[in-house]
Amino acid sequence: MTAARLASLASQLPALRLLTDPSDLEHYGRDWTRRWTPAPLAIALPASVEEAQAVVRWAYENDVALVPSGGRTGLSGGAVAAHGELVLSLERMNKVLAFDAVDRTLTVQAGMTLQAVHDAAGQHGLIYPVDFAARGSCAIGGNIATNAGGIRVIRYGNTREWIAGLTVINGKGELLHLNRGLIKNSSGYDLRHLIIGSEGTLGVVVEATLKLTDPPAPSQVMLLALPDMTALMHVFALFRARLSLQAFEFFTDVALRHVLAHGAQRAIDGDHPYYVVTEFDADEEAALAVFEQGMEQGWIHDGVMAQSDAQAAALWRLREGITESLASHKPYKNDISLRISALPGFLAEIQALLGEEYPNMDVVWFGHIGDGNLHINVLKPATLSDADFIAQCDVVTKHLAQTLQQHGGSISAEHGIGLVKKPYLESTRTAEEIALMRGVKQVFDPKGLLNPGKVF
Ligand code: MLT
Ligand code: ZN
Repeated sequence: MTAARLASLASQLPALRLLTDPSDLEHYGRDWTRRWTPAPLAIALPASVEEAQAVVRWAYENDVALVPSGGRTGLSGGAVAAHGELVLSLERMNKVLAFDAVDRTLTVQAGMTLQAVHDAAGQHGLIYPVDFAARGSCAIGGNIATNAGGIRVIRYGNTREWIAGLTVINGKGELLHLNRGLIKNSSGYDLRHLIIGSEGTLGVVVEATLKLTDPPAPSQVMLLALPDMTALMHVFALFRARLSLQAFEFFTDVALRHVLAHGAQRAIDGDHPYYVVTEFDADEEAALAVFEQGMEQGWIHDGVMAQSDAQAAALWRLREGITESLASHKPYKNDISLRISALPGFLAEIQALLGEEYPNMDVVWFGHIGDGNLHINVLKPATLSDADFIAQCDVVTKHLAQTLQQHGGSISAEHGIGLVKKPYLESTRTAEEIALMRGVKQVFDPKGLLNPGKVF
């Protein structure tokens, strides 16, 4: 029945690429979570806004659920198609549409990778400053759908700050031009900001106008070894007060062990429980003065400052290589957010809880500590089945969510709710908020066909 209707889509849009091979269904039906078995109906690969709009209209008329799809590097299951949905991949829509030197904006199709956006901005001597390790694979449309953060939020903010305009198709197939690149626009609700972070549940982002900025002053990259979390908080306060930070990222000795086993180079000898990779604008002398102050206080136990671009890249690899180095251990991922001031209290409670609940499991802590965003990855022991491991982690995540709620935090800082964190949404959002979110969904997507089952 649906196959017959699919044939009607193919005949209406003969130029549309529609894939139904099992290998394609598997490839496009999953994201980096690898927890669900992909089972999409088919994959539609529009090459233009008109084709994308025709696909959404067809889905609306035929009551077919759609999963918008970019680079599928998401870690919350937001791009999974496991229930016969039609995947709407933006992969072929990957071009720069316009650059405006006066406005300093770049208008792009949603399927461009973040790396391609960086390269395009660089050709004009400017930067698009949102950045993270998946840059080579993730798509800008997906970055917008999750309000992606990454490693330079402390300086530049999240994706939201850099979106001047969006072209979006809502659940009825209507085309919306939101904000149109304006800096000031006080003309009612800013629907652009509802779309940003909505995880494909309100509309399909097909084009975006991105703000660009000047490249930063030449920067220094340092790796620091620290004795404990209290020291880490002191070092953060010191560095933030004295240097102009671009990034302040942390990881533990357990994370270091994995990333070194995966080919990264050791930069500091000895065993230290915590490490920070930080990047800031400052000359070497100023940087060393701050570093020495941290050493004198006993907050920093060792450190190294990159002396070349290659060394800076090697230090960054220690942090950016963590996700890849953990992948084969099927990590259960948590991506939590707290006010920075609430971090020490929260950490003391949660480390005790994790120690009790996971005595025999590797728990890997790392993340964007300067943004109050921690990634807590629990690695699957070989002795546990996938299902038992997830069931065990779900129980602990319930406690984690309760503790977060008590400290006023969020169960998702930057990865989104998707499928993975859906059971815990109530720990971060009130019943009233969720009811309003459902109401908004109903307005944008009256038949509930856009990314159904994600977020709530
Ligand atoms: C990162 O910051 O490296 C990713 O967002 C975190 C993860 O893989 O859990
Ligand atoms: Zn992250």
